[in-house]
Amino acid sequence: MMIPKLLTLSAIVSIASAAPLATCPGYRVTTVQTGDSYLIADLTLAGTPCNLYSEDITNLRLTVEYQTDTRLHVLIEDRDQNVYQIQDSILPRPSSSSQNTTSQTSSDLRFTYQAANPFFSFKITRASTGDVLFDTSPSPLIFETQYLRLRTRLPPNKNPNLYGLGEHSDSFRLPVTEEGYKRTLWNSEAPYIPQNQNLYGSHPVYFDHRADGTHGVFLRNAAGMDIVIGRSDDDGEHSRYLEYNAIGGVFDFYFLAGPKPEDVSRQYAEVVGLPAMMPYWSLGFHQCKYGWPDLDHVRGVVRNYSEAGIPLEAVWGDVDYMDGKLDFTTDPGRYPREQLREFVEELHGKGMRYVQILDPGIRYKSDYGTYQRGAQKDVFLKAADGSCYRGLQWPGEVVWPDWIAPQTTEWWTTEILTFYDPNTGIDIDGLWIDMNEASNMCADTTCLSSAQESRRSVPIPVRGQTHLSPRAAADGKHIGLPNRDLFTPPYSISNHYPSLSSRTLFTNITNSDGTSQYDTHNLHGLTMSMSTHRALLSRSPTVRPFLLTRSTFSGSSKYAAHWFGDNFSSWADYRASIRQLLSFSAIHNYPMVGSDVCGFNGPAQEKMCARWAVLGAWHPFYRNHADVSAPDQEFYRWGSVVAGAARKAVATRYRLLDYIYTGLHYASKTGEVLVKPLWFLFPEDEETYGIDTQFFLGEALLVSPVVEDDVQSVSFYLPRSVWYDFFSHSVLDQSSGGQTITVEGVDWDSIPVYIRGGSILPLRLSSPESPEDGGEGKGQKQAMTTKEVRERDFEILVAPDEEGKARGRLYLDDGESMEVGGRESEIEFLWEGSGSGGGRLEVRGVFGYETEVRVRRVVVLDDGRGGGKKVVEGGGG
Ligand code: NOJ
Repeated sequence: MMIPKLLTLSAIVSIASAAPLATCPGYRVTTVQTGDSYLIADLTLAGTPCNLYSEDITNLRLTVEYQTDTRLHVLIEDRDQNVYQIQDSILPRPSSSSQNTTSQTSSDLRFTYQAANPFFSFKITRASTGDVLFDTSPSPLIFETQYLRLRTRLPPNKNPNLYGLGEHSDSFRLPVTEEGYKRTLWNSEAPYIPQNQNLYGSHPVYFDHRADGTHGVFLRNAAGMDIVIGRSDDDGEHSRYLEYNAIGGVFDFYFLAGPKPEDVSRQYAEVVGLPAMMPYWSLGFHQCKYGWPDLDHVRGVVRNYSEAGIPLEAVWGDVDYMDGKLDFTTDPGRYPREQLREFVEELHGKGMRYVQILDPGIRYKSDYGTYQRGAQKDVFLKAADGSCYRGLQWPGEVVWPDWIAPQTTEWWTTEILTFYDPNTGIDIDGLWIDMNEASNMCADTTCLSSAQESRRSVPIPVRGQTHLSPRAAADGKHIGLPNRDLFTPPYSISNHYPSLSSRTLFTNITNSDGTSQYDTHNLHGLTMSMSTHRALLSRSPTVRPFLLTRSTFSGSSKYAAHWFGDNFSSWADYRASIRQLLSFSAIHNYPMVGSDVCGFNGPAQEKMCARWAVLGAWHPFYRNHADVSAPDQEFYRWGSVVAGAARKAVATRYRLLDYIYTGLHYASKTGEVLVKPLWFLFPEDEETYGIDTQFFLGEALLVSPVVEDDVQSVSFYLPRSVWYDFFSHSVLDQSSGGQTITVEGVDWDSIPVYIRGGSILPLRLSSPESPEDGGEGKGQKQAMTTKEVRERDFEILVAPDEEGKARGRLYLDDGESMEVGGRESEIEFLWEGSGSGGGRLEVRGVFGYETEVRVRRVVVLDDGRGGGKKVVEGGGG
C-alpha cells in the first residue's frame, strides 16, 4: 500500500477544530513605507521559530494597496518570493481599469496594524460605520514552508452569517457548531456529494453578511486548506473565529467592502473575472445518460421526447460514444462515425444541439494518435524519473496533459479541430469536460501492477520524500519552495481520501513551468477549461463557446458552466441542489449552474423526479442525467406524472427564457448575480439569512419549491412586499411584514413562484398554456426548441409595487455571437400606475438588435386596489 498506516489514521481522526494554538512567536514589523494608497512593510519572525508543522519563514513582506474605494489588497508573502503564487496567466489580477489605486481617505476599508508586542496583527475596518470586518489580533500569524495559519475574530456574542467557501453541499449559511465547522478545499472526485466533505472545486471566498453591511474576503491561494469556523473563549467574549490552515501559498487577500450583498458580488467578479456569456440555446432543456447503448437508442430518445410533446434542446454524448473510452474516437459498432455525423446533422435540421464529453486522461498506448501527437509535442505530465506520469481512468492506463504548458493548448486545439471539423467530423455545439480534478482511479501504486507492467516508471511515494523542481533554482519567483515533503505534508488537511495524492495525480509532479502539482492541484479543472475554451474559440471564432466543467476554481465561470456532479436520486440531494445553486450563483459568482435533474446515482422515484423536473426548470442550467448503473430516467418514461410535470415546467421556462438570458447578460457584463438568496434583496430581514430552500431567479421571481419528501404542501417565507402568484396572478399583500405561509395541494407538476411587486417581466408567448391565452393558445403551439422561442412575440407583465410602480429589463441579441458589436438591445421598462388601475409604460434604452418580434400585449396585474387586471393588446415594435 502506498499510504503509510499512520497517515491513514491521522486523516481519519482529524477533527473539525483548528490546529493547536502553540506558542508561536508571530512576526514584528521592522520597516514601513507608506503612501496615500499603499503600505509596504518588512516583517521578521518575532522570536524563536515554533516550526509547528514545518519551518518558519523568517522574513516576510506585507503589501497593502487601496485599489478602489471598495477593494483593499493585502498580500503577505515571503520576502524572497519563492513560495508559490497562482500564475497571473491562470488567474489574472484585477485589470488596471478596475484598479484605480484610490487613496486611504476615500476608501470605505481601513487597514490598521499593530507592529509588535506581542506580535504583528492587522484589522480591516469599515470606515463609514467603524465596524471591524477582519481582525487577526488574537493569535500570531504562522508562515511556514508547508503550513500557513491566520485567524480572524468574528464579532463577539453573535452567530455569524457566513456563506461560500465551496464547493460543498452543506447549508448555504455555513453552520456554526460547538465543536467547530471545517471546510476543506482540495478538488476531488466524490462518488456522491456528501456534506462536510471536499468536492470537485475550490472557491476560497466568503461573504460575511451583517445587518449594516455585507463584505467579502477572497484568499487568492490555491493550496489545499482547511478553513475552520470555531469558537474561542480566549478573550472572555465567546467570540467566533474563522481560521485558515493552508499547506502552501501566501496570504493574498482581497477585501471587498460591499456594502450591499450584490456590490460584493460585483467586486468579487472584478477580481476573478466576469462569468462567460452563454449562448441562448444553452438555456434549453438538455438530456444526457451514461450508458446509452448505441446511436439507435439515442435516436429513440429524441423521437420519444418529440412524441411526448416535451421540448428537448440538446442531446449529450457521454463516454459511450467513444471507442474504448478514448477521447476523439467513435465506437465503430455502436456509434459509427458517419452515422453519428448524420445524426448531428439531423438534430441541427430540427433546431436541436449536440454536446460531447472529453476526459483529460489520455490512453497511454503507442498506436493511439492523440497520445502519439501529444507525446511528440511533450504535453504530458512527468513522473519524478522523467517518464510520463501514468494512472488509471476509463480507458485503462492513461497519461495526463500538463495544461500549464503552452504546447498543450496547441495540441488539444488541433485534436478538437480535427475530430470536430464541421465538414468532416462531428459538428458539436459544445463540450463537456469531466474527471478533471483530476480523478485517478488508481488508488495506490499497486493498482496497475498486474495489468500494466510499465507501471515501474511511476515513483513510489515515500514519507519525507523531497522534491527539487528543476527550474525553481534557476529562475525564480513564485515557483514553489524546494525541499518540501510534497506527498505527506506534516499538516494533514481533511481530504476525504486518505492522502493528498489518493485518487488524483501525485502531488510531487512538476509542471512545465517548474511549479508542482502540490501547489497547482486545485487549478487542474480551471486550466483544462481555459485550454478547451480557447480550442472552441479557434474552431468557431465568432461563436460563443458552450463548455461544461466538473472541476472549478475561482474564476472558472469565465470559461465554463458547471454542474454539481454525481448526486443521488434522492430527496436529500434534490434539496442540496438549492443550497449548491445559491452558493455557486451568489457567492462564487457562477451563474450557469445546475444539478443532474432526477439525480445521477441510483433509481429515481417517480414523484421525486416530477418535483425535480419542475425545480430544475428554475435553475440556469437544466439537464437530466444519470449513471450507467441507474435506470433510464428520461422524462417521458414515467407516463403522465413526470412527463406532465416536465412538459409544463419546460413550457413555463421557455416563456421566461429572455428574462433568464437578460439576467445572464448582466451577470457577464457587471457581475450581477442571477440566482439570489432572499437576503440579497432583503438584507435587513434577519429571517432571510438562513433560508436555503427558496431563491430568487433574477430580481423578480421568488421560487419556493416543495422540499419535503412525498408531500403536496410547503411552508415558506415571504418577506415584506407585495407579491403576485406567477401562475394565477392573484395578489398577496405582505406589506405589513414578512410571514411564513403554507400552500397546500401543490400538485406534482407545480411549484409556488411569486413575482415581487415592482417588477416587469418580458415573457415569450411560447406556450399554449400561457394563462393570458385563456388556455386556448390562440393558435400557438408549444415552442419545441429555443430557436422557435426566439420567433415568438412578447408579452410584458407588469406587477406594481405598493406605490403602483414597476420596472424591468430585456436584453436581446442574436443569441450566439462572441462580439455582438452594436447588434444588441438593452431595454428598460418603467411603469407608473395612476391609481385607478391605469398608468403609463415607458420603454427606453438602446435598440441595436433588429428583429421581427413584437410586443403583442401588456398585462398589468391587479394589486388589489380596485383597478382589476388590465390587458392591452397591440402590436408594438
Ligand atoms: C463522471 C461524471 O460526473 C458523470 O456525469 C459521467 O456520466 C461519468 N463520469 C461518465 O463519463
